Amino acid sequence: MKRMQIGLIGCGTVGEGVARILLGQQKLLRDRLGMELVLKKVADTDTQRKRSVTFDEGVFTTDASEILSDPEIDVVVEMVGGVGFAKDVIQRAIQAGKHVVTANKKLLALDGNSLFAEAAAKGVTIAYEASVGGCMPIIKTLRENLVANRITAMTGILNGTCNYILSEITRLGLSFEEALGQAQAKGFAEADPTLDIEGFDAAHKLAILAAIAFGMEIDFEGVYVEGISRIEAMDILYADQFGYRIKLLAIAKNHGDRVEARIHPAMIPTDCLLSQVNGSLNAVSVYGDAVEEMMLYGHGAGMMPTASAVVADLADIARDMGRSDGSRLPALGYLSGSIRRIPVMPISEIRTHYYFRVAAADRPGVLSRVSGILGQHNISIMSVHQKERHVSDAVPLVFMTHRAREADMCRALEEIRALPEVCRDPVLIRIEDPSANGRP
Ligand code: HSE
Repeated sequence: MKRMQIGLIGCGTVGEGVARILLGQQKLLRDRLGMELVLKKVADTDTQRKRSVTFDEGVFTTDASEILSDPEIDVVVEMVGGVGFAKDVIQRAIQAGKHVVTANKKLLALDGNSLFAEAAAKGVTIAYEASVGGCMPIIKTLRENLVANRITAMTGILNGTCNYILSEITRLGLSFEEALGQAQAKGFAEADPTLDIEGFDAAHKLAILAAIAFGMEIDFEGVYVEGISRIEAMDILYADQFGYRIKLLAIAKNHGDRVEARIHPAMIPTDCLLSQVNGSLNAVSVYGDAVEEMMLYGHGAGMMPTASAVVADLADIARDMGRSDGSRLPALGYLSGSIRRIPVMPISEIRTHYYFRVAAADRPGVLSRVSGILGQHNISIMSVHQKERHVSDAVPLVFMTHRAREADMCRALEEIRALPEVCRDPVLIRIEDPSANGRP
């Protein structure tokens, strides 16, 4: 039986899961692939970590070079993470003519264009299904299953840590810190959780997805990023009262000559499917001109769900083994000559609905001054609510607007902030209706 030999570099949480599947599911994989996937070597500098797998004599090493220089190893699985050593590992593997499987979304978001070009020049594959959405096969879906579609938009929940925090504040009234602590204890937060909280992890993933969906170069710098650290429990409560949930949304829309790509907290109606995605789960809705809407849902992180996606990539490579061009698929699903550099629209130019909350002194005329400013900036009010008075003199005034231009909204908010009756910076949260996102 044909064999594909694998070297695993990095045996932390996901790496251990990959080893568990490769060692524990040999028969299943043989039955499905007609080939043997052999875990020939595993490299990690951490020799003390307790792992749920035991390796045969000679398999485990602390030296990644043993894998990179082994001519019998066909594929390197990079599970190191980060952008320094991991990039070096991938480049050395490519230069040695080995295929690569990685889950490293940050590295691909920053350097994917050049790494994919290097791999193509050497006739090897970089497979990266596990980099976005854990076990959800969103990359395969976009590159293969939706090949017949012009993708018009995507809306997703791509960060389990933020989704967990927002869900648990909503469900149990936990504080932000308590919910974050639980996410870290459960092992799905990044080593540096600011990457999660401030939206960068989701932005790395969206930059990759937008490139595949729209046939464009990966443009992480173009993605607008706003995290959840400024969301207050009060806004989650008001959202609930108005029939919305707050989610950290990843939104990409295709306007032909320009795209939108943005990560920010958003209110979405409680009756839309994405608002029911709770805890650490991820989901993404894709809108294509033939399929209309389709959605994937599943664990976006964690040992075994992410390892499942890594092994799926290994299976694809095994099935393609022996091809002179390495893979039947170009890295982004478009031939390199067809990939365009499409500019991402500045956030100031988007149009959406807004929720904003102003803390203002409860005096005659305040409401009319605020609404006057909105009118001057072409912003039409959908509803306004004056909430109960708090300890101080200030009351929360909550506005929901019709669709408006972000630049107008920001200018209006600056003027509102300058009113003498307004006590602190207004809170602004965009309102999105994912079911309308197929219409860019
Ligand atoms: N830290 C990420 C999350 C998992 O919370 O979704 C891996 O991307």
